[in-house]
Amino acid sequence: MTSFWSWYITLLSLGTIAALVWLLLATRKGQRNESTEETVGHSYDGIEEYDNPLPRWWFMLFVGTVVFALGYLVLYPGLGNWKGVLPGYEDGWTQVKEWEREMNRADEQYGPLFAKFASMPVEEVAQDPQALKMGGRLFASNCSVCHGSDAKGAYGFPNLTDHDWLWGGEPETIKTTIMEGRQATMPGWVNVIGEDGIRHVAGYVLSLSGREAPEGINVDIEQGQKIFASTCVACHGAEGKGTQAMGAPDLTDNVWLYGSSFGQVQQTLRYGRNGRMPAQKDILGNDKVHLLAAYVYSLSQQPEN
Ligand code: HEC
Ligand code: HEC
Repeated sequence: MTSFWSWYITLLSLGTIAALVWLLLATRKGQRNESTEETVGHSYDGIEEYDNPLPRWWFMLFVGTVVFALGYLVLYPGLGNWKGVLPGYEDGWTQVKEWEREMNRADEQYGPLFAKFASMPVEEVAQDPQALKMGGRLFASNCSVCHGSDAKGAYGFPNLTDHDWLWGGEPETIKTTIMEGRQATMPGWVNVIGEDGIRHVAGYVLSLSGREAPEGINVDIEQGQKIFASTCVACHGAEGKGTQAMGAPDLTDNVWLYGSSFGQVQQTLRYGRNGRMPAQKDILGNDKVHLLAAYVYSLSQQPEN
Protein backbone atom coordinates (compact mmCIF):
# COMPACT_ATOMS: atom_id res chain seq x y z
CA MET A 1 0.00 0.00 0.00
CA THR A 2 1.40 3.46 -0.83
CA SER A 3 2.11 5.68 2.12
CA PHE A 4 -0.66 8.05 1.06
CA TRP A 5 -3.32 5.38 1.51
CA SER A 6 -1.61 4.10 4.61
CA TRP A 7 -1.87 7.53 6.24
CA TYR A 8 -5.35 8.04 4.85
CA ILE A 9 -6.61 4.88 6.53
CA THR A 10 -4.70 5.52 9.73
CA LEU A 11 -5.91 9.08 10.15
CA LEU A 12 -9.47 8.20 9.19
CA SER A 13 -9.61 5.35 11.72
CA LEU A 14 -7.96 7.20 14.58
CA GLY A 15 -9.86 10.38 13.73
CA THR A 16 -13.15 8.51 13.94
CA ILE A 17 -12.26 7.10 17.32
CA ALA A 18 -11.16 10.53 18.55
CA ALA A 19 -14.41 12.04 17.32
CA LEU A 20 -16.42 9.38 19.15
CA VAL A 21 -14.48 10.00 22.36
CA TRP A 22 -15.15 13.72 22.02
CA LEU A 23 -18.86 13.06 21.43
CA LEU A 24 -18.99 10.83 24.47
CA LEU A 25 -17.32 13.37 26.74
CA ALA A 26 -19.09 16.39 25.27
CA THR A 27 -22.54 14.95 25.89
CA ARG A 28 -21.55 14.04 29.42
CA LYS A 29 -20.52 17.58 30.35
CA GLY A 30 -22.93 19.67 32.29
CA GLN A 31 -25.04 16.75 33.39
CA ARG A 32 -26.29 16.65 36.95
CA ASN A 33 -24.74 14.00 39.19
CA GLU A 34 -27.69 12.94 41.25
CA SER A 35 -30.86 11.44 39.82
CA THR A 36 -34.02 13.45 39.60
CA GLU A 37 -37.73 13.26 38.79
CA GLU A 38 -37.40 16.22 36.42
CA THR A 39 -37.78 15.57 32.72
CA VAL A 40 -35.88 17.19 29.88
CA GLY A 41 -39.13 18.74 28.86
CA HIS A 42 -40.12 17.24 25.55
CA SER A 43 -42.75 14.62 25.07
CA TYR A 44 -43.06 12.18 22.18
CA ASP A 45 -46.48 10.56 21.99
CA GLY A 46 -46.64 10.92 25.73
CA ILE A 47 -43.21 9.42 26.31
CA GLU A 48 -40.94 11.65 28.35
CA GLU A 49 -37.28 11.45 29.30
CA TYR A 50 -35.87 12.00 32.81
CA ASP A 51 -33.05 14.51 32.97
CA ASN A 52 -30.67 11.95 34.46
CA PRO A 53 -27.03 11.18 33.59
CA LEU A 54 -26.10 8.09 31.60
CA PRO A 55 -25.72 5.20 34.04
CA ARG A 56 -22.10 4.78 34.92
CA TRP A 57 -21.85 1.18 33.68
CA TRP A 58 -23.33 2.30 30.37
CA PHE A 59 -20.77 5.05 30.02
CA MET A 60 -17.96 2.64 30.94
CA LEU A 61 -19.16 0.27 28.24
CA PHE A 62 -18.47 3.00 25.67
CA VAL A 63 -15.06 3.65 27.19
CA GLY A 64 -14.44 -0.09 27.03
CA THR A 65 -15.15 -0.26 23.30
CA VAL A 66 -12.70 2.59 22.68
CA VAL A 67 -9.99 0.88 24.72
CA PHE A 68 -10.68 -2.37 22.89
CA ALA A 69 -10.47 -0.65 19.51
CA LEU A 70 -7.14 1.01 20.34
CA GLY A 71 -5.71 -2.23 21.75
CA TYR A 72 -6.84 -4.11 18.67
CA LEU A 73 -5.31 -1.55 16.31
CA VAL A 74 -2.00 -1.71 18.15
CA LEU A 75 -1.81 -5.52 18.26
CA TYR A 76 -3.15 -6.43 14.83
CA PRO A 77 -2.38 -5.20 11.32
CA GLY A 78 -5.10 -2.94 9.98
CA LEU A 79 -3.94 0.67 10.23
CA GLY A 80 -2.38 1.15 6.81
CA ASN A 81 1.03 -0.46 6.74
CA TRP A 82 1.18 -1.00 10.49
CA LYS A 83 2.01 -4.67 11.17
CA GLY A 84 0.88 -4.89 14.75
CA VAL A 85 2.91 -6.03 17.74
CA LEU A 86 1.24 -9.36 18.51
CA PRO A 87 3.96 -11.59 20.00
CA GLY A 88 5.07 -14.24 17.54
CA TYR A 89 3.75 -12.40 14.49
CA GLU A 90 6.51 -9.89 13.77
CA ASP A 91 5.45 -9.77 10.13
CA GLY A 92 1.85 -9.12 10.99
CA TRP A 93 -0.87 -11.53 12.05
CA THR A 94 -2.93 -13.37 9.44
CA GLN A 95 -5.44 -16.19 9.75
CA VAL A 96 -3.25 -18.38 7.58
CA LYS A 97 -0.24 -17.87 9.86
CA GLU A 98 -2.30 -18.58 12.92
CA TRP A 99 -3.59 -21.77 11.32
CA GLU A 100 -0.06 -22.81 10.34
CA ARG A 101 1.16 -22.24 13.87
CA GLU A 102 -1.65 -24.36 15.26
CA MET A 103 -0.84 -27.10 12.77
CA ASN A 104 2.84 -26.97 13.68
CA ARG A 105 1.98 -27.16 17.35
CA ALA A 106 -0.26 -30.18 16.68
CA ASP A 107 2.49 -31.83 14.63
CA GLU A 108 4.97 -31.31 17.44
CA GLN A 109 2.54 -32.75 19.92
CA TYR A 110 1.19 -35.67 17.91
CA GLY A 111 3.95 -36.18 15.33
CA PRO A 112 5.92 -38.64 17.49
CA LEU A 113 2.74 -40.58 18.22
CA PHE A 114 1.86 -40.81 14.52
CA ALA A 115 5.44 -41.85 13.75
CA LYS A 116 5.31 -44.55 16.40
CA PHE A 117 2.14 -46.07 14.95
CA ALA A 118 3.45 -45.67 11.40
CA SER A 119 6.37 -47.94 12.26
CA MET A 120 4.06 -50.73 13.38
CA PRO A 121 2.26 -53.11 10.98
CA VAL A 122 -1.32 -52.07 10.17
CA GLU A 123 -2.81 -55.18 11.83
CA GLU A 124 -1.04 -54.36 15.06
CA VAL A 125 -2.09 -50.72 15.00
CA ALA A 126 -5.65 -51.94 14.48
CA GLN A 127 -5.47 -53.54 17.96
CA ASP A 128 -4.47 -50.33 19.72
CA PRO A 129 -7.40 -48.45 21.27
CA GLN A 130 -5.60 -45.10 21.23
CA ALA A 131 -4.66 -45.50 17.57
CA LEU A 132 -8.25 -46.40 16.68
CA LYS A 133 -9.51 -43.34 18.50
CA MET A 134 -7.13 -41.12 16.53
CA GLY A 135 -8.01 -42.97 13.32
CA GLY A 136 -11.69 -42.49 14.04
CA ARG A 137 -11.21 -38.74 14.39
CA LEU A 138 -9.21 -38.56 11.16
CA PHE A 139 -11.95 -40.53 9.46
CA ALA A 140 -14.65 -38.22 10.75
CA SER A 141 -12.95 -35.12 9.38
CA ASN A 142 -11.52 -36.49 6.11
CA CYS A 143 -13.59 -39.42 4.93
CA SER A 144 -17.09 -39.26 6.38
CA VAL A 145 -18.28 -36.71 3.78
CA CYS A 146 -18.27 -39.52 1.26
CA HIS A 147 -18.31 -42.77 3.23
CA GLY A 148 -20.64 -41.60 5.99
CA SER A 149 -19.80 -41.06 9.65
CA ASP A 150 -20.47 -44.73 10.35
CA ALA A 151 -18.36 -45.68 7.28
CA LYS A 152 -21.31 -47.57 5.86
CA GLY A 153 -21.22 -45.69 2.59
CA ALA A 154 -24.04 -44.53 0.38
CA TYR A 155 -25.03 -44.67 -3.26
CA GLY A 156 -21.74 -44.62 -5.21
CA PHE A 157 -19.63 -44.68 -2.04
CA PRO A 158 -18.70 -48.13 -0.78
CA ASN A 159 -19.51 -49.45 2.66
CA LEU A 160 -16.17 -49.94 4.43
CA THR A 161 -17.53 -51.98 7.32
CA ASP A 162 -18.71 -55.01 5.36
CA HIS A 163 -16.46 -57.82 4.30
CA ASP A 164 -16.97 -57.03 0.68
CA TRP A 165 -14.13 -55.22 -1.03
CA LEU A 166 -13.87 -53.64 -4.43
CA TRP A 167 -10.11 -53.34 -4.31
CA GLY A 168 -9.14 -55.77 -1.56
CA GLY A 169 -9.30 -55.92 2.22
CA GLU A 170 -5.74 -56.87 3.11
CA PRO A 171 -4.29 -54.26 5.48
CA GLU A 172 -1.61 -53.17 3.01
CA THR A 173 -4.10 -53.08 0.13
CA ILE A 174 -6.39 -50.80 2.11
CA LYS A 175 -3.42 -48.55 2.78
CA THR A 176 -2.54 -48.45 -0.92
CA THR A 177 -6.16 -47.61 -1.76
CA ILE A 178 -6.12 -44.63 0.60
CA MET A 179 -2.59 -43.46 -0.27
CA GLU A 180 -2.82 -43.68 -4.05
CA GLY A 181 -6.55 -43.41 -4.56
CA ARG A 182 -8.50 -45.61 -6.98
CA GLN A 183 -10.17 -45.00 -10.30
CA ALA A 184 -12.78 -47.54 -11.34
CA THR A 185 -13.50 -47.91 -15.04
CA MET A 186 -16.69 -49.66 -15.96
CA PRO A 187 -17.34 -48.86 -19.62
CA GLY A 188 -20.78 -48.07 -20.99
CA TRP A 189 -22.24 -50.71 -23.28
CA VAL A 190 -25.32 -49.30 -24.93
CA ASN A 191 -23.45 -48.54 -28.15
CA VAL A 192 -21.95 -52.02 -28.21
CA ILE A 193 -24.85 -54.33 -27.38
CA GLY A 194 -27.88 -52.07 -27.87
CA GLU A 195 -30.92 -51.63 -25.62
CA ASP A 196 -31.99 -55.25 -26.08
CA GLY A 197 -28.57 -56.50 -25.07
CA ILE A 198 -28.61 -54.22 -22.01
CA ARG A 199 -31.94 -55.63 -20.92
CA HIS A 200 -30.88 -59.25 -21.33
CA VAL A 201 -27.55 -58.89 -19.61
CA ALA A 202 -29.12 -56.85 -16.78
CA GLY A 203 -31.52 -59.76 -16.26
CA TYR A 204 -28.60 -62.13 -16.17
CA VAL A 205 -26.69 -59.94 -13.68
CA LEU A 206 -29.69 -59.86 -11.37
CA SER A 207 -30.00 -63.65 -11.58
CA LEU A 208 -26.43 -63.98 -10.32
CA SER A 209 -27.52 -62.75 -6.90
CA GLY A 210 -30.87 -64.49 -6.96
CA ARG A 211 -32.89 -61.51 -8.12
CA GLU A 212 -35.27 -61.16 -11.05
CA ALA A 213 -36.28 -58.54 -13.55
CA PRO A 214 -39.81 -57.19 -12.94
CA GLU A 215 -42.56 -59.28 -14.42
CA GLY A 216 -43.78 -58.54 -17.92
CA ILE A 217 -40.40 -57.43 -19.23
CA ASN A 218 -38.95 -59.41 -22.07
CA VAL A 219 -35.64 -60.65 -20.71
CA ASP A 220 -33.71 -63.49 -22.27
CA ILE A 221 -31.35 -64.61 -19.55
CA GLU A 222 -29.56 -67.11 -21.78
CA GLN A 223 -28.89 -64.38 -24.30
CA GLY A 224 -27.67 -62.23 -21.41
CA GLN A 225 -25.33 -64.95 -20.25
CA LYS A 226 -23.84 -65.17 -23.74
CA ILE A 227 -23.21 -61.45 -23.83
CA PHE A 228 -21.72 -61.62 -20.36
CA ALA A 229 -19.36 -64.41 -21.40
CA SER A 230 -18.07 -62.40 -24.31
CA THR A 231 -18.12 -58.86 -22.96
CA CYS A 232 -17.91 -58.84 -19.19
CA VAL A 233 -15.76 -61.76 -18.09
CA ALA A 234 -12.49 -59.93 -18.74
CA CYS A 235 -13.17 -57.81 -15.68
CA HIS A 236 -15.91 -59.51 -13.68
CA GLY A 237 -14.63 -63.07 -14.17
CA ALA A 238 -16.32 -66.13 -15.65
CA GLU A 239 -18.54 -66.57 -12.58
CA GLY A 240 -19.13 -62.87 -12.10
CA LYS A 241 -17.14 -62.82 -8.89
CA GLY A 242 -15.15 -59.77 -9.86
CA THR A 243 -11.46 -58.87 -10.00
CA GLN A 244 -10.10 -56.79 -7.18
CA ALA A 245 -7.02 -55.74 -9.14
CA MET A 246 -9.28 -53.55 -11.28
CA GLY A 247 -11.94 -52.81 -8.71
CA ALA A 248 -14.49 -54.81 -10.68
CA PRO A 249 -17.10 -55.85 -8.12
CA ASP A 250 -18.40 -59.28 -7.33
CA LEU A 251 -21.81 -59.37 -9.01
CA THR A 252 -23.01 -62.47 -7.16
CA ASP A 253 -23.04 -61.21 -3.57
CA ASN A 254 -26.08 -58.94 -3.66
CA VAL A 255 -24.01 -55.98 -2.41
CA TRP A 256 -24.63 -53.03 -4.72
CA LEU A 257 -22.75 -49.80 -5.13
CA TYR A 258 -25.15 -48.30 -7.67
CA GLY A 259 -28.42 -49.91 -6.73
CA SER A 260 -29.97 -53.30 -7.32
CA SER A 261 -33.18 -52.41 -9.12
CA PHE A 262 -33.58 -53.48 -12.72
CA GLY A 263 -33.61 -49.82 -13.76
CA GLN A 264 -30.45 -48.95 -11.85
CA VAL A 265 -28.53 -51.95 -13.12
CA GLN A 266 -29.54 -51.10 -16.69
CA GLN A 267 -28.37 -47.55 -16.12
CA THR A 268 -24.99 -48.88 -14.92
CA LEU A 269 -24.70 -51.06 -17.99
CA ARG A 270 -25.81 -48.43 -20.46
CA TYR A 271 -23.49 -45.63 -19.51
CA GLY A 272 -20.83 -47.21 -17.30
CA ARG A 273 -19.61 -46.10 -13.87
CA ASN A 274 -16.42 -44.37 -12.84
CA GLY A 275 -16.13 -44.28 -9.06
CA ARG A 276 -13.10 -42.39 -7.88
CA MET A 277 -11.44 -42.62 -4.50
CA PRO A 278 -9.20 -39.51 -4.12
CA ALA A 279 -5.52 -40.15 -3.26
CA GLN A 280 -4.59 -38.99 0.24
CA LYS A 281 -0.81 -39.20 0.21
CA ASP A 282 -0.34 -35.51 -0.64
CA ILE A 283 -3.19 -34.43 1.59
CA LEU A 284 -2.71 -36.44 4.78
CA GLY A 285 0.67 -38.07 4.24
CA ASN A 286 1.90 -41.55 5.08
CA ASP A 287 1.59 -41.50 8.88
CA LYS A 288 -2.03 -40.41 9.04
CA VAL A 289 -3.02 -42.73 6.19
CA HIS A 290 -1.38 -45.57 8.10
CA LEU A 291 -3.67 -44.88 11.07
CA LEU A 292 -6.68 -44.60 8.78
CA ALA A 293 -5.86 -47.92 7.13
CA ALA A 294 -5.75 -49.50 10.58
CA TYR A 295 -9.06 -47.89 11.48
CA VAL A 296 -10.78 -49.05 8.29
CA TYR A 297 -9.26 -52.52 8.67
CA SER A 298 -10.53 -52.74 12.24
CA LEU A 299 -14.07 -51.88 11.06
CA SER A 300 -14.02 -54.80 8.68
CA GLN A 301 -12.76 -57.15 11.38
CA GLN A 302 -15.84 -56.67 13.51
CA PRO A 303 -18.55 -59.29 13.17
CA GLU A 304 -20.98 -58.30 10.43
CA ASN A 305 -24.15 -56.71 11.70
C1 HEC B 1 -12.98 -52.96 -18.13
C2 HEC B 1 -13.50 -53.77 -17.07
C3 HEC B 1 -14.99 -54.00 -17.03
C4 HEC B 1 -15.80 -54.56 -17.98
C5 HEC B 1 -15.41 -55.08 -19.37
C6 HEC B 1 -17.11 -54.59 -17.40
N1 HEC B 1 -17.12 -54.07 -16.15
FE1 HEC B 1 -18.70 -53.90 -14.90
N2 HEC B 1 -17.56 -52.87 -13.59
C7 HEC B 1 -16.22 -52.66 -13.73
C8 HEC B 1 -15.77 -51.83 -12.64
C9 HEC B 1 -14.34 -51.37 -12.40
C10 HEC B 1 -16.92 -51.55 -11.86
C11 HEC B 1 -16.98 -50.69 -10.61
C12 HEC B 1 -17.38 -49.30 -11.01
C13 HEC B 1 -17.24 -48.34 -9.89
O1 HEC B 1 -16.84 -48.72 -8.79
O2 HEC B 1 -17.53 -47.14 -10.12
C14 HEC B 1 -18.01 -52.22 -12.49
C15 HEC B 1 -19.33 -52.18 -12.03
C16 HEC B 1 -20.34 -52.95 -12.53
C17 HEC B 1 -21.65 -53.01 -11.96
C18 HEC B 1 -22.18 -52.26 -10.76
C19 HEC B 1 -22.18 -53.12 -9.53
C20 HEC B 1 -22.74 -52.41 -8.31
O3 HEC B 1 -22.37 -52.83 -7.23
O4 HEC B 1 -23.53 -51.48 -8.46
C21 HEC B 1 -22.35 -53.89 -12.74
C22 HEC B 1 -23.81 -54.33 -12.56
C23 HEC B 1 -21.48 -54.33 -13.78
N3 HEC B 1 -20.27 -53.74 -13.64
C24 HEC B 1 -21.83 -55.22 -14.77
C25 HEC B 1 -21.06 -55.41 -15.93
C26 HEC B 1 -21.52 -56.12 -17.09
C27 HEC B 1 -22.87 -56.80 -17.20
C28 HEC B 1 -20.53 -56.04 -18.01
C29 HEC B 1 -20.55 -56.57 -19.43
C30 HEC B 1 -21.60 -56.03 -20.28
C31 HEC B 1 -19.44 -55.35 -17.41
N4 HEC B 1 -19.80 -54.95 -16.16
C32 HEC B 1 -18.23 -55.11 -18.04
C33 HEC B 1 -15.39 -53.12 -14.72
C34 HEC B 1 -15.83 -53.70 -15.89
C1 HEC C 1 -14.76 -37.56 -2.49
C2 HEC C 1 -15.32 -38.74 -1.88
C3 HEC C 1 -14.39 -39.63 -1.08
C4 HEC C 1 -13.60 -39.31 -0.01
C5 HEC C 1 -13.41 -37.95 0.63
C6 HEC C 1 -13.01 -40.53 0.44
N1 HEC C 1 -13.40 -41.55 -0.36
FE1 HEC C 1 -12.84 -43.50 -0.15
N2 HEC C 1 -13.83 -43.96 -1.86
C7 HEC C 1 -14.62 -43.09 -2.59
C8 HEC C 1 -15.21 -43.81 -3.71
C9 HEC C 1 -16.16 -43.22 -4.75
C10 HEC C 1 -14.71 -45.11 -3.65
C11 HEC C 1 -15.04 -46.25 -4.59
C12 HEC C 1 -14.17 -46.19 -5.81
C13 HEC C 1 -14.65 -47.22 -6.78
O1 HEC C 1 -15.79 -47.07 -7.28
O2 HEC C 1 -13.93 -48.21 -6.99
C14 HEC C 1 -13.86 -45.18 -2.46
C15 HEC C 1 -13.19 -46.32 -2.05
C16 HEC C 1 -12.53 -46.45 -0.85
C17 HEC C 1 -11.93 -47.66 -0.36
C18 HEC C 1 -11.94 -49.00 -1.07
C19 HEC C 1 -13.13 -49.82 -0.66
C20 HEC C 1 -13.14 -51.18 -1.28
O3 HEC C 1 -14.20 -51.80 -1.22
O4 HEC C 1 -12.10 -51.63 -1.78
C21 HEC C 1 -11.38 -47.38 0.87
C22 HEC C 1 -10.64 -48.35 1.78
C23 HEC C 1 -11.61 -45.98 1.12
N3 HEC C 1 -12.32 -45.45 0.06
C24 HEC C 1 -11.21 -45.31 2.26
C25 HEC C 1 -11.29 -43.94 2.41
C26 HEC C 1 -10.70 -43.22 3.50
C27 HEC C 1 -9.95 -43.83 4.67
C28 HEC C 1 -10.96 -41.91 3.29
C29 HEC C 1 -10.52 -40.72 4.13
C30 HEC C 1 -9.14 -40.38 4.02
C31 HEC C 1 -11.72 -41.80 2.06
N4 HEC C 1 -11.91 -43.06 1.56
C32 HEC C 1 -12.17 -40.61 1.53
C33 HEC C 1 -14.86 -41.77 -2.31
C34 HEC C 1 -14.24 -41.05 -1.30
